[in-house]
Amino acid sequence: MEIPEKVKEILNHEGVVAIATQGKDGPHLINTWHSYVQLTATGNLLIPAGGMKRTEENLLKDNRIVATLGSREVTGMRGPGAGFFINGTAKLLISGNQYDLVKEKFPWARATLEITINSVEQTI
Ligand SMILES: Cc1cc2nc3c(=O)[nH]c(=O)nc-3n(C[C@H](O)[C@H](O)[C@H](O)COP(=O)(O)O)c2cc1C
Repeated sequence: MEIPEKVKEILNHEGVVAIATQGKDGPHLINTWHSYVQLTATGNLLIPAGGMKRTEENLLKDNRIVATLGSREVTGMRGPGAGFFINGTAKLLISGNQYDLVKEKFPWARATLEITINSVEQTI
């Protein structure tokens, strides 16, 4: 889906993205940096996976993710501070174009976490 311009603006300011998967014992949370996220032409998010072992295991059983990102430096709905709640699915890629794009920028990545966004809601 088309990524809102405000999300792109947030990603251009450094900050932390939180990405949750569902594990057998409950939710599992990981992070990446805004500056690590690459957007594809189709509106997917590409993230370098150095670790993400438990995330990978979880995604094989249930590929749904939720994620949040935000920046105090971007104007939101109530003044300084904008943020979004993202709903989607994800998988780890170990070959192909999307993998190469990430590997070029982050040679340490063992895989690319590709997020396909289903919905984006501005929460602040
Ligand atoms: C601010 C921040 C940024 C992070 N960025 C990454 C990242 O880009 N890629 C990555 O694999 N792990 C990153 N991590 C570590 C992950 O959150 C996670 O703990 C690690 O990959 C292990 O994942 P797992 O629990 O799914 O095995 C980051 C952690 C923090 C706190």
